[in-house]
Amino acid sequence: MKGVILAGGTGSRLYPLTKVTNKHLLPVYNKPMIYYPLETLARAGIKDILIISGKDHAGHFLNLLGSGRDFGVNLSFEVQDGASGIAHALSLAENFSGKESIAVILGDNIFEDDISKDIASFERQAGGARIFLKEVGDANRFGVAEIRGDAIIGIEEKPKDPKSNLAVTGLYMYDSDVFDIIRTISPSERGEYEITDVNNAYIKRGSLSYSLLRGDWTDAGTFESLFKANNIAREHHEKTNLNG
Ligand code: DAU
Repeated sequence: MKGVILAGGTGSRLYPLTKVTNKHLLPVYNKPMIYYPLETLARAGIKDILIISGKDHAGHFLNLLGSGRDFGVNLSFEVQDGASGIAHALSLAENFSGKESIAVILGDNIFEDDISKDIASFERQAGGARIFLKEVGDANRFGVAEIRGDAIIGIEEKPKDPKSNLAVTGLYMYDSDVFDIIRTISPSERGEYEITDVNNAYIKRGSLSYSLLRGDWTDAGTFESLFKANNIAREHHEKTNLNG
């Protein structure tokens, strides 16, 4: 399985922090934000990773991360012109992924979980897609999953009245059909190609499974969530230093 980190977008909700640099290069406790998704994939044994960023600071990602050798991975880089949405950014990974399945992670998401086992179980499953859910108190900020029995029956993007408190986190596994699916979707009301539309297409095919996260998770795209990300990173750092 290959990995893809999506680090495009404008970071407008963090202005003026993002006036002269990119959101994913901002500090989260003791590391640049993008280290966290990169380490999540590397820890799970993924070796080939593509980083997709906007063009303004593309060179900074290369300066910071180089070949990836320091993380034990091989990095490739791709540029998304504009910010037409998460699914649009992902479409740029088609050549990189070839016919392999991919683990896709949003560059502003911080995960405590080790996802090695989920990757192994996804690779045993016959294609399709898998998402990762987390119970939250502010579900209306996220994609929200509706569950019936063991099945996921729908996802709504930032609903006013969420049907559950299960947020769809920014970590997804897809088979190579994902690129054909992206070609079938249209921009949403906010003008973006939405990853939620891609996931709902997999639900329609009956091939979207999910895992529940056990550890802490947050995005870091607003002042409040960036502050929370710093706290999670600090606590995790202290825990692992104590144990290690
Ligand atoms: O954090 C999880 C949430 O991320 C999900 O629950 C939502 O379903 C999903 O739509 C997304 O919501 P946001 O509105 O918070 O996403 P945002 O626009 O902040 O983008 C998140 C990351 O995706 C960003 O850090 C980089 C990447 N991205 C985003 C856009 C719009 C790109 O690479 N290119 C883009 O054009």
